[in-house]
Amino acid sequence: MIKALFQNTFGPAPSVTGFTPGRVNLIGEHTDYNGGWVLPTALTLGVSLAIAPRTDGRIRIRSDKFEGLAERRMDDRAADHWSDYIVGALQRARADGFGPNGADVAVMTTLPFGAGISSSAAVTVGTLRCARDLTDQNQSNTEIAVLARQVENDFIGMPCGIMDQMAVAISSPGQALSLDTKTLDYALIDLPETHHMAVIHSGVFRQLNEGRYKIRKEECDAVKAALGHDDLCLMSDAEFEGLSTLDASLIRRARHALSEHRRTVLATAALKAKRMTEFGGLMNDSHASMRDDFEITVPAVDALVADAQRFGATGARMTGGGFG
Ligand code: GLA
Repeated sequence: MIKALFQNTFGPAPSVTGFTPGRVNLIGEHTDYNGGWVLPTALTLGVSLAIAPRTDGRIRIRSDKFEGLAERRMDDRAADHWSDYIVGALQRARADGFGPNGADVAVMTTLPFGAGISSSAAVTVGTLRCARDLTDQNQSNTEIAVLARQVENDFIGMPCGIMDQMAVAISSPGQALSLDTKTLDYALIDLPETHHMAVIHSGVFRQLNEGRYKIRKEECDAVKAALGHDDLCLMSDAEFEGLSTLDASLIRRARHALSEHRRTVLATAALKAKRMTEFGGLMNDSHASMRDDFEITVPAVDALVADAQRFGATGARMTGGGFG
């Protein structure tokens, strides 16, 4: 299908194609820029890309979701346009010594945008992988994920952590990625066959770069300055007590980072041992912490989570950056 979209648009066959999944995070929210652990898993939904290289600095992109052809250039800046992630990834690859000087690109996605399941990470990682494959390079998936995060941080201007890029670059459906975001050490854990995972869209959309994610990141930066180090998730109980002179909202943010990391460590052990009742309880606690301490949930999502819990879910929580 992706080959057909490419050929119908550009004529010749693409040089490389690839598929990158979206992700859903099981637990460990807003820990990935605070030195903590996360536990995401890949979805079966994702992004397909087909690319042929160019040499003239032009980038032409056809999407199955948007009308027309996006005409961009290798030296473009971000333009608040859906094609930015592909342009940024092609620029990043080129600046890193691999990838073509321009490209024709077709992209198809089964991931809803702005739904907290990493459509942007899938597009960016997928484009970088295609650029790698086009030029016969051998960057590891971790290296690709690090570059993809740089595209988000430096080109798009979204100060995200590394979770989404690592999740979509490394895990497969049915496997959770237990990732230490400080060291990038990871392990893959099979999800149990005794339980089903349902990902429910609230219908309330958000755009991460709207600014509220940035505000939480800045609040964490303020706590880091008071602590004297960057690893909010790894602070000791004594260090947490020492924050008592800070503004009450900053103390709540710090308490979320600390408790969420500890819950993620416990949940990882519970998942490995298939103790799913314990795992579900930690998911429920994670939601309460995001609602009360990090204050990133919205009423529609709180209501969905409460319903899921009431109707018998082993555990339920919001997933992703929040605010939708
Ligand atoms: C978004 C960001 C991630 C992470 C989550 C919250 O998905 O892209 O880096 O911070 O929010 O856990």
